[in-house]
Amino acid sequence: MTTKQRICITVNGVRHEREVEPRLTLVDFLRHELYLGGTHVGCEHGICGVCTVLIDGRSARSCLALAVQADGCDVTTVEGLRDGATAQLHPIQQAFVEAHGLQCGFCTPGFMMTTLELLTENADPSDDEIKEALGGNLCRCTGYESIIASVRLAARRLREQQGA
Ligand code: FES
Ligand code: FES
Repeated sequence: MTTKQRICITVNGVRHEREVEPRLTLVDFLRHELYLGGTHVGCEHGICGVCTVLIDGRSARSCLALAVQADGCDVTTVEGLRDGATAQLHPIQQAFVEAHGLQCGFCTPGFMMTTLELLTENADPSDDEIKEALGGNLCRCTGYESIIASVRLAARRLREQQGA
């Protein structure tokens, strides 16, 4: 019998305390303990990037991280993008809609979280910088051009919002 471990993780600004199995992955914690299904599960081997979340502001594969490793951390998932008060889509989400950055949408949460990290660090990335940042996320539908266009649009909107 495995001893459960008490953890406390803040997800999208809300503190959650749970007793979990030490082997529970972070993505399973998010999906099955907190019912946040926006973070998808694909390869479960760290290859596809669909499970990408931010842990203390840095992108991470939540299929490779254990929930116990995120104890005491701030985790942001795709559900945290939308404005909680107004229910308005985040400019990244809006840009993916407008620039057709998704088809089936399976890869989209991962792309959006990677984009959030990129645009937090670099408000005006070049196409090469966008490709470099998104290189660890796989999409089987779009051919990537519309995703890159979505990131460019999101970057422009965020700069306009910040008056840059
Ligand atoms: S499900 Fe995590 S990288 Fe593919
Ligand atoms: S939109 Fe279908 S996998 Fe990317």
